[in-house]
Amino acid sequence: MCSESNNPGQDPFKAPKLITKEKTREALTTSLKAAMAIILILSISLAAFSAIYGPTQPDFFSWPDPDRPDPDPYMALFNSDNSPTNVSHLAFGIGGSTATWANRARYSDLWWKAGSTRGYVFLDKDPVGSTQPGIGHRVSSDWRRFRRTAGSESAVRIARVVVDLFRVGLPNVRWFVMGDDDTVFFPENLAAVLGRHDHRRMVYVGGNSESVEQDVMHAYDMAFGGGGFAISYPLAAELAGAMDGCLNRYHYFYGSDQRVWACVGELGIGLTREPGFHQIDIRGDAFGILAAHPLAPLVSLHHIDSVNSLFPNQTQLESVSTLMKAYKSDPSRILQQCFCYHRKYKWSVSVSWGYAVQIFPVSLTAKELETPQQTFKTWRSRSDGPFTFNTRPVSSDHCQRPIGFFLNSAEEETEKTVTTYRKVEPQPVNKCNKDYARAVAIENVVVLASKMEQQEWDQSARRHCCDIDGNLGHRTMRIRIRRCKHSEAITI
Ligand SMILES: *[C@@H]1O[C@H](CO)[C@@H](O)[C@H](O)[C@H]1NC(C)=O
Ligand SMILES: *[C@@H]1O[C@H](CO)[C@@H](O)[C@H](O)[C@H]1NC(C)=O
Repeated sequence: MCSESNNPGQDPFKAPKLITKEKTREALTTSLKAAMAIILILSISLAAFSAIYGPTQPDFFSWPDPDRPDPDPYMALFNSDNSPTNVSHLAFGIGGSTATWANRARYSDLWWKAGSTRGYVFLDKDPVGSTQPGIGHRVSSDWRRFRRTAGSESAVRIARVVVDLFRVGLPNVRWFVMGDDDTVFFPENLAAVLGRHDHRRMVYVGGNSESVEQDVMHAYDMAFGGGGFAISYPLAAELAGAMDGCLNRYHYFYGSDQRVWACVGELGIGLTREPGFHQIDIRGDAFGILAAHPLAPLVSLHHIDSVNSLFPNQTQLESVSTLMKAYKSDPSRILQQCFCYHRKYKWSVSVSWGYAVQIFPVSLTAKELETPQQTFKTWRSRSDGPFTFNTRPVSSDHCQRPIGFFLNSAEEETEKTVTTYRKVEPQPVNKCNKDYARAVAIENVVVLASKMEQQEWDQSARRHCCDIDGNLGHRTMRIRIRRCKHSEAITI
């Protein structure tokens, strides 16, 4: 009797609920199907979209492309020309000013060789009246529109010299060389030094300041502009595009050289140091540096109006001209140092070829002789260092001080040179030993040397050796410079 009541279909309450459940299940299934269909359609359209409009962003860490370099637009420019780099491949850009150029040009006249060196001095405006012979001038392109909150107006103008020079479009340039109007270059040596670097790549070559205080204030890894620096063709081409935007970002820098350094750095290029560039950020007597030059070709000298005359009894202009005489007779050897010993009199002799000879009346090791005597102070605070190289003090004992001889003449023969050096009278000294007295008695030193081949610098260079002629006749000491023997050591 109540069996029918068990029929769920007839339960007035439960029946509709059951129907609802079933309907819901049905509806759910339908909407699931619909959703799946939509997803399917979406995926198909996405796939189709991707197929039409290219792949979507790949995962950053599974980047499918190998890291290939960009095709190099500059390699091809130089590929057919493998000749060694010489002065004809350099373009000089000198940062000058119209107000001072007439006076400063006398320094560039000493190294500029019409018909051989190329380039210009960049001035702020055309000079009035007759123009100088020698290096030609150009007027810098617009520089006043750049932001500048430190340094002088010329700092921006001179930073842009590399770009102005590049845009002149001189043919066959491998290196753009920047310098100040008081920089003295030694062009053949500069070409030889740059020839060791690849001008088909982006390269920035120079040197920093001798005074640590200057390197701290500006930057250690920056080429100081006065010592000069070189920018390879590809780097100059890139700077031509990048520099104007870059200059505004470094409005707070002091100098032009620091601005160039910053813009070169934004291209990812660091400084290649060469020890022959000399900013000469020192005060006093540069003798210590010039008499103990590093084992590298002399490339430049700067600040020569700020240091004592390089030669006694000569103006600075005469001094540089004297040094140039020796340079021209054997460019590679200028300031190259060698040591020889007079065993009997216990003299240690240091020759800085083309500049000076010193007889030390004491036994000194090669390491002592190649360490510059500190005849100078730092640039800014005029203190006794620190410098970016080691120095040794000038001896306080007069009997231990060297007797100095300075270049007097330089004669060139086919394969060799004869240079002579004349004594500078030392301060009168009362009682030193006999060996000292014998050294003071010498008036002249004659140095014979074969001409140095430029290629010697291409291999790892070795200091040359020298011998003293045992026969000290007529107050003259004769020295012969030669290549050291294979296992020869420079020692007493
Ligand atoms: C410099 O190199 C070029 C070739 O690149 C050559 O024609 C020229 O004679 C060289 N000049 C000197 C002075 O050696
Ligand atoms: C410098 O000049 C003085 C006086 O004219 C002279 O006695 C001295 O020998 C000269 N020194 C040199 C190195 O020429």
